[in-house]
This record gives sequence, structure tokens and C-alpha cells, in this order.
Amino acid sequence: MTASVNDLIVTSPSTTCDVELAKGPWEFDTIPGYGPGASEDDSIPDPVVRPGQLPAEYQRMSDEELHARIQAAKETLGDKLVILGHFYQRDEVVQYADFVGDSFQLANAALTKPDAETIVFCGVHFMAETADILSRPDQHVILPNLAAGCSMADMADEDSVEDCWEQLTELYGTEADADGPEGSRLAPVIPVTYMNSSAALKAFCGRNGGIVCTSSNASTVLEWAFERGQRVLFFPDQHLGRNTAKAMGISLDDMPTWNPRKPLGGNTEAELRSAKVLLWNGFCSVHKRFTVEQIEQARAEHPGCKVIVHPESPMPVVDAADASGSTDAIRKFVIASEPGDTIAIGTEINMVNRLAAEFPDRTIFCLDPVVCPCSTMYRIHPGYLAWTLDKLVEGEIHNEIVVDDEIARDAKIALERMLAALPK
Ligand code: 13P
Ligand code: SF4
Repeated sequence: MTASVNDLIVTSPSTTCDVELAKGPWEFDTIPGYGPGASEDDSIPDPVVRPGQLPAEYQRMSDEELHARIQAAKETLGDKLVILGHFYQRDEVVQYADFVGDSFQLANAALTKPDAETIVFCGVHFMAETADILSRPDQHVILPNLAAGCSMADMADEDSVEDCWEQLTELYGTEADADGPEGSRLAPVIPVTYMNSSAALKAFCGRNGGIVCTSSNASTVLEWAFERGQRVLFFPDQHLGRNTAKAMGISLDDMPTWNPRKPLGGNTEAELRSAKVLLWNGFCSVHKRFTVEQIEQARAEHPGCKVIVHPESPMPVVDAADASGSTDAIRKFVIASEPGDTIAIGTEINMVNRLAAEFPDRTIFCLDPVVCPCSTMYRIHPGYLAWTLDKLVEGEIHNEIVVDDEIARDAKIALERMLAALPK
């Protein structure tokens, strides 16, 4: 049986990417306010329990007690409750999820549970915001620990994107050209935001003829955008944008990177005029750790092994791998493999270890030898889940995610476009 990532971190902190993680959840969470990557600019709901302020009794509870609490609350709440879990969530929490999936599937799952009064999202902040936008107005969405954000999502804030848009509008103008398919007019630029972004940026896309994508439907979304525009502004993840556009045959010379700290994003006017895809310079700190050397080493040590990586990995890594795809695509790749196969995976460690445990007749391992979980998703400890569920049983909703009505209205436009752009 593969040890849970939590056990690995606790028993062997020296092999972990961030030694702080081994300090345990209550110490790790003592910084007041939203944690890194928790979309700090979003409105703070009330009542809110801040990181590190989980009632002491929950901090002291044994694993068995927490388990009993969570099970009892789930039984009491029955169909009124649905728990969603992302593939990267730790095993100690995923075991309670009614549905586990990638971010596209979880956005749909939020729509398909009409009996649930409350959706408890064991994922990160932008996923819970999306669930709030797509769910019915009378449904509540809870993120058990509000410090569970996404550091990549915070690499593009609303002000910087608005500022970029102003510069692009000044350069390109606002007039659509008459050179689209069948004489249609193409806008100068279409904004595309990765799901890993704040609700405010999804609303920006909704207001400006743009769309949201996830890693599973990014190529369908780029096709959608090129049917409507001459070029795309893609944020926040440069790697997903570059990998997807390159696979569609777009030259790297036509994909400048936008650095929000520099005028014109650090580009010349000529470069921006000839650009097809402008790539915001964000990245995921977990996926940027994967390297071509790791792939070479995996192949040297396991001749014949297959390598699959998430498209948030840098382009040379995606190019060197046998395949790339969203978390669900990675799972399907493993399901389609044969007993006896060896598969090296470039994605978050909780998901890789779970696949290894689920398929003991294959050799499955993470390309990164260092134990590196998504440290913000990792902040959903069973203690937070037990506490928010107990409160629900008492009729109290804590750590609710509530997106402002106007933002939700505009973001929904971009999200509904995304849901119609099915993964290939
Ligand atoms: P998926 O859309 O593949 O689930 O990925 C979400 C994510 O945050 C990857 O880092
Ligand atoms: Fe964000 Fe990276 Fe965590 Fe995904 S793995 S939620 S992109 S920090």
C-alpha cells in the first residue's frame, strides 16, 4: 500500500519541497488572512474563520475522532450535502468526496446536484468560486479552509489585466477586421483565462467577448477564440497557453510573453502586432519543477516506461514526454495502460500516489523525486472539513464562498462558453 502524502511529509520532511509543510496544519496555517494564492482581492465572506483559528477542539482531535465526526455529519446531512474533491486533494480528505475529478468535471458536477443545499468544495478557491457562480442561487458553497488558494491564479490580478487590455486596445484599436471565416469580422484580440484565475478575471473575459478554459478543453477553446479574433490574450499560465498553441501549429515566434511589470509587457509594437497568442508570464510552482532530465532519468532507469505530464509543465518537458493532458486525461492514460507497464507521471504527488495505489499491477511514480504537493490545496485538512460539516449540522454556514452578483453575472457568460467547448 502506498503511504499517503501526508504520512510521507510527516515522517520524512527532508524529502519534501517545503519543510514548512511538515510543521503540521495548525502551525502551517498561523499566518492571519488568506494564505498564498487564495485570491486575496476577493471579498471576504462573513462569518469567516481565518487560517490558524480553527477551534482548538478540532485541532486536538485524533484522526479517528475526525473521521467519526465527518461520517456522522455526512449521514445526518444526506442528500442535502455534496462534497466535491479535486484529484490533487490529500487522501485523508478525498475519501469523503462524493465526486472526484478535474476542474472541468468539478465545474459540471456543481450543476448536477440539484438536491444539494450545500456544496463543500475540497479543492482551491477559484474552483469554489466557479461552483458558486454555476450553482443555483439558493445553494451554498463552502471552502473548508479559506487559505486554500492557487499561487498561479494570483499571478494575474484584475488591475494588471485591465492595464494590459488598455495598452492592447490602444495599439490594435477596437475595430473588428473583415477577414474571418465566411466574411465574419474578427476582433483584434480575444481574452482567454485559464480556470485557475479569480472570478473577477472570468468576469473580465465575459465582458470582453472572451472565454474560460481548463487544461482539458484548452485547444477547443483556442479554436473558438480564433473563429472570433485575430489573436488571443491568454492568462495566467504561460505554459498551458504555449503548449496548446504550439500543438495547434502556431509558431513560437508568434507567442510573445507578457510581463505585467514592463511597458507593452516587455515587447515591441511590431512583436505585438504580429503576435497570435500573448502569453501572460504566470506558472504553477508544482509543475515548473518537472524537467527533461527527470524524463531522461526515468527512461534510463525504466527502459520502455511511458511518460505523461500535465500541460502546466514547461514546453521542453511536454515535448519530451510521450503524452500530456489534464488530470483526467492522465487518469485515462493510466486506465488504458496494461498490467506490467511502467508509467512516470509529471503532476501533483497526491494524484500520482493514488493512481499507484489503485493500480498495483503497474509501476507508477512521480517524475519529481521530491515530495511536492500543491501546498495550498494541502491546506484542506480533515479538521477543517469536520468543523465546517459539524457547523452545517447545527444550521450554520462557515467559510462560505460568495461571489459578488455583478462579477458572477459576467463570469457566468465566460464559464458557460467554456462548458460548451467540450474536451477533445
Ligand atoms: P485540471 O484542470 O487538470 O484538473 O488541473 C487543475 C490544476 O490546478 C492543475 O494544476
Ligand atoms: Fe494552482 Fe499549481 Fe496547485 Fe494547480 S497545482 S491549484 S495551478 S498551485
